[in-house]
Amino acid sequence: MIKIINLTKSFNKTPILSGISLEVANGITTVIIGPSGCGKTVLLKHIVGLLRPDSGKVFVDDFEVSSLYGVQLFKLRRHIGVVFQGAALLDSLTVAENITLGLREQSKKTPVAELNRIVKEKLALVRLEGVENKLPSELSGGMKKRVAIARALAMEPEYILYDEPTTGLDPITARKIDELICELQNKLKITTVAVTHDLASTYKIANKIAMLNKGKIVFEGTAEELKKNKDIEIYKFIRGREYE
Ligand SMILES: Nc1ncnc2c1ncn2[C@@H]1O[C@H](COP(=O)(O)OP(=O)(O)OP(=O)(O)O)[C@@H](O)[C@H]1O
Ligand SMILES: [Mg+2]
Repeated sequence: MIKIINLTKSFNKTPILSGISLEVANGITTVIIGPSGCGKTVLLKHIVGLLRPDSGKVFVDDFEVSSLYGVQLFKLRRHIGVVFQGAALLDSLTVAENITLGLREQSKKTPVAELNRIVKEKLALVRLEGVENKLPSELSGGMKKRVAIARALAMEPEYILYDEPTTGLDPITARKIDELICELQNKLKITTVAVTHDLASTYKIANKIAMLNKGKIVFEGTAEELKKNKDIEIYKFIRGREYE
């Protein structure tokens, strides 16, 4: 389970997260929504120890992420696959090399045949085959996203975190990525956290929704509960217009 307790974070004295507490249950998909710039990526980075809280704690299973350094942090990251905003593939590496990047960092001795097997298996999981030797520049946005997901799955993590998985994709490709996220969650029973401002995507993939606004969690519940919520800020966000 991921447990965030009273997390605060400021940059240059500007508070971004002002006392966030959130529990992410295992085996389901939790989606964190909120307007652009509200701190979704900052929150996600605290879960993998890429940022450290000013105060508060983040737990992933028995790890207290906020207190880990070096080798311990490295060990934690084996449990968490991250699909970064954009896709963040390395342009000079092939698809296969991108997918095995983390694996090769974690263990220098994995035989090439085993790496090749993993690449094939993960590409099949994301429904993208025969692109092992292509460079990211030869792929479409949707394909790059699939490769980024395959890379996140390469270490067989218990958790997968998606940062804006559908942003920048056309609506049809975006819905296909949503379907893939659902399918992987069902098939692998992997605990999934996505942060996004795409509501269509949220309604498609979320078992639970949390909304972040002005440094606080302002809503936790289901899609149905979100749609019924009468809070003005939430109303405006989910309908994209002023309260009528
Ligand atoms: N390393 C950093 N140093 C200084 N400010 C930062 C840093 N990282 C994020 N910020 C600031 O924190 C705020 C929240 O950023 P964040 O990237 O988390 O937003 P977001 O909710 O992910 O937005 P989007 O939906 O556009 O991706 C922004 O004002 C950003 O400029
Ligand atoms: Mg972001």
